[in-house]
Formats: sequence, structure tokens, C-alpha cells
Amino acid sequence: MMVVTFKLLHFLSGLFVSLKLLALAQEENQFIYHGFTGANLLLNDIAKIHPNGLLELTNTSKHQIGRAFFPFPFQFNTSLFNNSRSLSFSTQFVFAMVPELPTFGGHGIAFTVSPSVNFTGALAGRYLGILNSTTDGLSSNHLLAVEIDANRNPDFKDINDNHIGIDLNKLLSIDSAPVTYFSDEEKENKSLNLKSGKLMHLWIDYDEVERLLNVTVGPITRTKPTLPLLSTSLDLSSLMLDSMYVGFSSSTGAVASSHYILGWSFNRSGQAQSLDVSKLPSLPPQRKSRRKPSLRIALPAIAAIILVLAISGAVYIIRRKKYEELREDWEQEYGPQRFSYKDLYKATRGFSDRELLGRGGFGMVYRGVLPSSNKQVAVKKVSHDSRHGIKEFVSEIVSMGRLRHRNLVQLLGYCRRKGELLLVYDYMPNGSLDKLLFRNDTPILNWVMRYQILRGVASALLYLHEEWQQVVLHRDVKASNVLLDADLNGRLGDFGLARFQEHGSTPHTTNVVGTIGYLAPEITRTGKSTTCSDVFSFGTFMLEVACGRRPVESERPPEEVVLVDWVFECWKRGAILDTVDPRLEGDYVEEEMELVLKLCLLCTHRTPSARPSMRQAVQYLDGNATLPDLPLQGTGIGLVPVSNEASREHVSSYSFSDSESILSGR
Ligand SMILES: *[C@@H]1O[C@H](CO)[C@@H](O)[C@H](O)[C@H]1NC(C)=O
Ligand SMILES: *[C@@H]1O[C@H](CO)[C@@H](O)[C@H](O)[C@H]1NC(C)=O
Ligand SMILES: *[C@@H]1O[C@H](CO)[C@@H](O)[C@H](O)[C@H]1NC(C)=O
Ligand SMILES: *[C@@H]1O[C@H](CO)[C@@H](O)[C@H](O)[C@H]1NC(C)=O
Ligand SMILES: *[C@@H]1O[C@H](CO)[C@@H](O)[C@H](O)[C@H]1NC(C)=O
Ligand SMILES: *[C@@H]1O[C@H](CO)[C@@H](O)[C@H](O)[C@H]1NC(C)=O
Ligand SMILES: *[C@@H]1O[C@H](CO)[C@@H](O)[C@H](O)[C@H]1NC(C)=O
Ligand SMILES: *[C@@H]1O[C@H](CO)[C@@H](O)[C@H](O)[C@H]1NC(C)=O
Repeated sequence: MMVVTFKLLHFLSGLFVSLKLLALAQEENQFIYHGFTGANLLLNDIAKIHPNGLLELTNTSKHQIGRAFFPFPFQFNTSLFNNSRSLSFSTQFVFAMVPELPTFGGHGIAFTVSPSVNFTGALAGRYLGILNSTTDGLSSNHLLAVEIDANRNPDFKDINDNHIGIDLNKLLSIDSAPVTYFSDEEKENKSLNLKSGKLMHLWIDYDEVERLLNVTVGPITRTKPTLPLLSTSLDLSSLMLDSMYVGFSSSTGAVASSHYILGWSFNRSGQAQSLDVSKLPSLPPQRKSRRKPSLRIALPAIAAIILVLAISGAVYIIRRKKYEELREDWEQEYGPQRFSYKDLYKATRGFSDRELLGRGGFGMVYRGVLPSSNKQVAVKKVSHDSRHGIKEFVSEIVSMGRLRHRNLVQLLGYCRRKGELLLVYDYMPNGSLDKLLFRNDTPILNWVMRYQILRGVASALLYLHEEWQQVVLHRDVKASNVLLDADLNGRLGDFGLARFQEHGSTPHTTNVVGTIGYLAPEITRTGKSTTCSDVFSFGTFMLEVACGRRPVESERPPEEVVLVDWVFECWKRGAILDTVDPRLEGDYVEEEMELVLKLCLLCTHRTPSARPSMRQAVQYLDGNATLPDLPLQGTGIGLVPVSNEASREHVSSYSFSDSESILSGR
């Protein structure tokens, strides 16, 4: 019985104390806390009170909110006991921000006066747990906040990452200032660093008569500075509702910070009482004892992280530079023909010398294996002025890529880098024909093979001239531009000088291009390439194959220097077979050889119209038509004088030859 009575009494006395506190708050409009042990604050989210009375609004958990409000609202607009209303108030508190990382703020604390403690929907981070993007700026918020902000948010036009501002209904402060205090002794402003983790004292005073809101900050070691940090003209009469709660809202963002309140006084009827610093709880002891060793660990760790970041950044940049390409919008339609530089780099093992197939005046050719398909390719690397005419050029390359014939070297695609163009072709394992024809250290091509090659190249030229959707003038038919595939089929490559024309159109005047000794005489006169001039070059090429020598060899006896003239003279003497390649050692079909040599003379006729078409040439070679009698006059001298050492922008050739000089004018 005694026990029960005692308990009841205890309960009643507790109730009485609470009621008395409530009465005090309401009647006297004031409170003071040195630590919050036993305080009946409304705590939200992660806010908590430590056993020593320290109020922890947030800890180092990211994207969190912590709030603590005085449990009862204050009658701001009307007073219960005194009918004259007053909007004035005065408050001061001691706080500390202990960020996770020494130089990064974990957002901030807002001293908040609001009509409700229901902040449903409010966000962490820059919204400080009081607003969100829809509620920010609404006049219905009736919200006053003094933000202590350790982050700079451009959205809210924050001045820096260490400021205090006054917010009315929105987070864009009506007034703000960097955290400084006026030192009366030194008569100057001293700055404070919110991220220092040190205790700071903040005073907020609003005087309804002056209509001034003063905000003053200072270090814990000093009395209130005589000059406030902010002194802002403000009429709160339309903002303050009848009943308003006061408290703190705090948030962390991607970087977190522990936010603490150590003591707080509030007064509606005069200056808030000064806090007695000696009565305040201490910050968690682990802060100091852990910070020092953690710094000792953290500094090398941070240095290591920075080093790793720098190295990986450098590696990334180097890799990017290494694989950097040029790509422009107009290239999109060529998607399938576009190779990535990275693939080509890998295919050719970084354009290694071991993969080098040939080296010429206008580029290097490398062998490679495409990583995606295991396909063998030849990659020609040509330097190219990437601005000038590149669009037309790439479009021609792509057109060439669409040419399909078993006696053409297939162009698979291209890649473009700064100042460099890469052309990808089918790989031709047996190299170029001139090597096999003119070098003594290579196996001899027998006549059957040679005849097969001639027929192949002829049908490729026929395809280019007549069978494709446009007329393609190759303009550089010669032995070094014919490559041999695995079955020793001749394949015409090197479309670097090729021109596209509509069927039936008249030829345009172009620059003189081609290789000396293969150039039709009319080209130098008229500057016009035609299918007939390709036929002329084809004739010279056939002579190379039949006679096993180059069209012009200056070290020979004078009558033999120009091959076509020599063959013509021999034919007139009835000894055309004297010109046949001695390496064949007489092992050939005489009728075929005679046909080829005579066809050569027809093809190199001075008068373009006297030359056969490629269709006719193919028919003669296939034995489907009989070669007409040769005219005694007019078979040609293909040699033209070189006027200047021409520019060698001979870009898309896939030729292993380093021999002839090129007249080019692309
Ligand atoms: C922060 O406080 C919350 C709530 O008390 C707790 O769940 C969380 O683990 C704390 N985080 C850290 C980093 O201490
Ligand atoms: C209460 O009213 C009296 C006069 O009626 C005034 O002097 C006093 O300042 C008022 N107190 C408050 C807290 O408004
Ligand atoms: C808080 O306000 C929301 C609307 O904003 C409401 O749905 C919710 O019930 C309120 N919570 C409390 C506890 O009053
Ligand atoms: C903001 O909060 C309100 C409730 O206070 C809610 O209705 C609204 O959907 C929230 N907006 C966003 C963007 O979260
Ligand atoms: C100190 O700061 C206040 C407020 O930011 C400013 O008005 C004042 O001019 C400054 N005083 C000095 C001496 O810099
Ligand atoms: C606010 O500061 C100004 C300027 O220092 C001062 O004149 C005024 O009395 C202060 N008001 C309050 C309520 O502290
Ligand atoms: C404050 O009280 C006055 C008088 O009661 C009233 O006219 C005014 O609308 C109130 N202000 C607000 C913001 O509610
Ligand atoms: C409130 O102000 C009155 C008048 O200046 C003072 O007597 C009282 O101690 C103050 N109370 C607090 C808690 O600041």
C-alpha cells in the first residue's frame, strides 16, 4: 500500500513538474538549456540526445535529416495573457559541425521558426530538412530560418561554402554573409571556419519595433561581439502565425557531417540569457582522440588515393589520346565502313614494325588480324590533311568499298584520326605482282599464272568501266598495283587516283595523274582521263607481265629503253617473241603470247578511239573474238616528260611498291 502510494505520488509529482514547465514556457515565453538531459524536445529522424546532454542532430550518415524542436508552440501573433501581440524574440545557442572530411562541408543547420513540426516531404542535403523543390518559395510556408551552411549551392545563389543566411519561405537567402565576427579589441572582422569542428556561439535577435533581425556569431571563448554579422530589415508580421514552433533542422548530403547543439536559450520577453559555457556538455571524446590518429592514417591514405586517381587519370588520358579519332556527323551514314582506331591498333599490335608489309612515299601498310572477326587485313596508314576535301574523299572511299569483284582488292573501310587516315583492305598474302615479276630472288610466275592474272585484271577493269552503277576510272593500272591473293589470282588494288563518272557523261578535265610510262599520251595534252586511257595503262601492264620488265628501263640499249616502242619495232620485224620475258625460258603458249603482245600494241595506240574497249580486250583474251590486224602506224609511246616532282598525296593505294614516281594532283 505504501509502495503504491509512493509510486502514485512520484507519478503525480512528475506530472506536476511537466505541467509546470509547460506553464512556464507558455507564460513566460522563455527557456534555457545547458545540455539537453531530460529535455522533452521533439526529435525527428536521426536526431538524438547523448547521455551527457549533447544534442546530436546528424551524424556522419549521408543524406540524412535530424530535427529537434521545442515541444510547444509560442503565441507570436497573439498573447494569451496579454492582448498586445509581439513578434520580438531573442535566442542564442552553441553549436559544432564536425565534418567527415576536413575540407568538405556536410550541409548545415537551420534555426527554424515554423507553424508546424510536420516536415513530411522535406529533403536532406541543400534543402536542410525543411523544404523540397515544390515547397521551396511558397508564401504559405510561414517559415523563417537562419541557415548555417557549410556548402555552396549555386541553385540558391550561395555566396560560399562557409556562410550564414536568413531564409524566408525559401532557401535562397534574403541576406547572407561569410562566417565572421567583429573583434572589438582588434577592431576587425575575424573569420571562422564552420568545418573546423570547433564550438561556436550564435545569437539571433528580432526587434519588432526596429524591424531588424540581427544575427551574430562568435567563437565560444568570447562574449557576444558588439556588431552583428547580419542586421537585416525585416517585417515578420505577415510571416508569423498565431502559434509558431522553434527548433533546429539539419541535414547531410553526399558528404556528411555531425551537427551538434550544446546549449540553447530562448526568450520572448527580453534578451535571451547568456549560456554558461562551463555548464555545456562536451563533444564526443572520440572526436579528438580519433581525429589525430585518423589524420595520421588519413593523410597517407588521401595521398595514396590522389596518386591512384592521378595515375588512372593519366592512363585514361593517354589511352584516350592513343585511341583518339576524328568523327563527324556526316560520317554517320558510313557507320559500317568505319573502323575504330582501337581495333586497328590492336589488330596490328600497335602498328608494330614486325607487321609492316610495305613502306612507300605515301604511307605504310601493316598486316593485322581484326580482334572481332579474326579476319586478316591490310591497314594502310596515310598522313592526310584532315580538313581539306576530306568529306568528298571519304565518300569516295566508301563508294570504293561498295565495289565488289573477285579481281579487286576489297576495301573494307576506313578510320580517321587527326592528320591521319587509315584504310582497311582484305589481306593479300602473296603481295604485289611487280615483286614477283621484276625480282630475281622470287619464284618465277609461269605463263599459265600470268595469263590467268591478265584475264582477271581485265575483267576487273571491265567491271569498273561498264558493269558498276558508275563509270570508275582507275587511272593507275600497273603491275605494282596488282596484288595476288592466296590462289595467285590477280586483284587490282590502289584506287587512290580513281575517279567516278556517270555513265555516258563527258570526262572532266582533271589534273594529270598516273605513273610515267603508263600514261596515255592524250592525257598530257587534254588533261582528260577516260576509259581509253585506262586501256592504254592496261596495255602497258600486259607488256610488263609478258616481257618481265618495267615500261621504261634507262640502263638498257637505246632501242630497248621504252618497252612499247621496242615491242612495236620487233613486231614490224616479225620477231615479236624476242621481247618475251627470258625468265619464262620459252615455256609458254606461243599463240597466247602473241595475242597478248599484239593486244598490248593495240591498247597503247596513240589514237584513243583506235584502242579496244575493255569488253573487247576481255573477249580477245578469252578467245571469244579474233584480234584485228594491227595498223602499221600509231602504236604508242606512252612516255611523257615529267614536268615537276609532283606532290605525292597518293592516298588510298594499297601497293607495296616503292618504285615509280607518281604524278598526282588530288
Ligand atoms: C547515425 O544515426 C543513426 C540513427 O541513430 C544510426 O542508425 C546510424 O548508424 C548512425 N550512423 C553513424 C555513421 O554513426
Ligand atoms: C503586456 O501588456 C503590457 C501592457 O498592457 C505591456 O507593457 C507589456 O509589454 C506586454 N507584455 C508582452 C510580453 O507583450
Ligand atoms: C504531415 O503532413 C502530411 C501532409 O503534408 C500529412 O499527410 C501527414 O498526415 C501529416 N503527419 C502528421 C503526423 O500530422
Ligand atoms: C514536397 O513536400 C510536399 C509535402 O510537404 C509533397 O506533397 C511534395 O510531393 C514534395 N515534393 C517533392 C518534389 O518531393
Ligand atoms: C565586418 O563585417 C560586416 C558584416 O559582414 C561589415 O558590414 C563590416 O564592414 C566589416 N568590418 C570590417 C572592419 O571589415
Ligand atoms: C541590431 O543591430 C543593430 C546594429 O548593430 C543595432 O542598432 C540594433 O539595436 C540591434 N537590434 C537587436 C534587436 O539586437
Ligand atoms: C496577426 O494578428 C492580427 C490581429 O489578430 C491579424 O490581423 C493578422 O492577420 C495576424 N497575422 C497573421 C500572419 O496571421
Ligand atoms: C528573458 O528576458 C527576461 C527580461 O530580460 C529575463 O529576466 C529572463 O531571464 C530571460 N529569460 C531567458 C530564459 O532568457
